[in-house]
Amino acid sequence: MLSRPDGIVIAIDGPSGAGKSTIARLLAARLGYIQIDTGAMYRAAALLLDCAGVDLGDTAAVGHFCKNIDIQLEAVSGRQVVRANGMDVTDQIRTAEMSLLTSRTSTLKPVREALLKSQQQMGRRGGVVLEGRDIGTVVFPDAEMKFYLSASVEERARRRCEELTAKGETVTLEETTADVIERDRQDSERDLAPLRQADDAVAVDSSRLTIDEVLALMVKMCRNKISDLESSP
Ligand code: DC
Repeated sequence: MLSRPDGIVIAIDGPSGAGKSTIARLLAARLGYIQIDTGAMYRAAALLLDCAGVDLGDTAAVGHFCKNIDIQLEAVSGRQVVRANGMDVTDQIRTAEMSLLTSRTSTLKPVREALLKSQQQMGRRGGVVLEGRDIGTVVFPDAEMKFYLSASVEERARRRCEELTAKGETVTLEETTADVIERDRQDSERDLAPLRQADDAVAVDSSRLTIDEVLALMVKMCRNKISDLESSP
C-alpha cells in the first residue's frame, strides 16, 4: 500500500553537475510526477538576500529576512519557472556567480530552516521527484526511493563549461573545474545538512553512462518500488 495519496517521494541527491536536474525532469515526466528542484530554491533565496543587501554575517537579519521570502516553482509550457517574491528569476539564478554565492548562503541556518519547511510541505503528498543535496538525509529521510547521482570532477566540469558557454557566458574549463571543486568542498564540509549519500540510497555514477541509460535504470527501479508498495498489504 502506498502511504501517501499521490505516489512515492523520490529523492535524488548528489554533487553539482552530476545531471540531477535533467534526470529529475525526465524521471518526473515519465512517472507523471512533479519535479522539485531544491537547488533552484536555494539559488532564488541567495538572489533575494543579495538584492536586498542583507549582511550574511548577521544571523538575526538573515533569519528575519527569510521569514518573509516566498519561493515558488511552476511548470509553464513544460519549462520550470522559478518565482522569488513574485518575480521570475529563472534565468538570473543560473550564472556562475550565483552558483558560488548560493554555495555560501545555503550554509546559513535560517535559510535552510525556511526552505526545509516549504520543501516538506511541497512533497508530503508524494508523486514528487525532489533533487538536491540533503533530500534523502534531512528533508525526506523516509523517502520511498533514494538515489545518489554522481560523476567524476572532470566530467562535471566539462558539462558545466558546455552549459554556460551555450548560454553565452565566457568561461574556461579551468574555471569550471575550480568552481566544481570549490562547491563540492563547501557543500560537503558544511556543518548543516552536508552533502552525503544516505545509507539507503542507490548510488549511480553517470560519468560513463548516457542520460538515457541513467534514466532507464532509475525509471525501472522506481516502477518496481511503486508496484511493490501497491501490492503489499
Ligand atoms: O543543485 P544546484 O547546483 O542548483 O544547487 C545550488 C546550491 O544550493 C549548491 O551549492 C548547494 C545548495 N543546495 C543545498 O545546499 N541543498 C539542497 N537541497 C540543494 C542545493
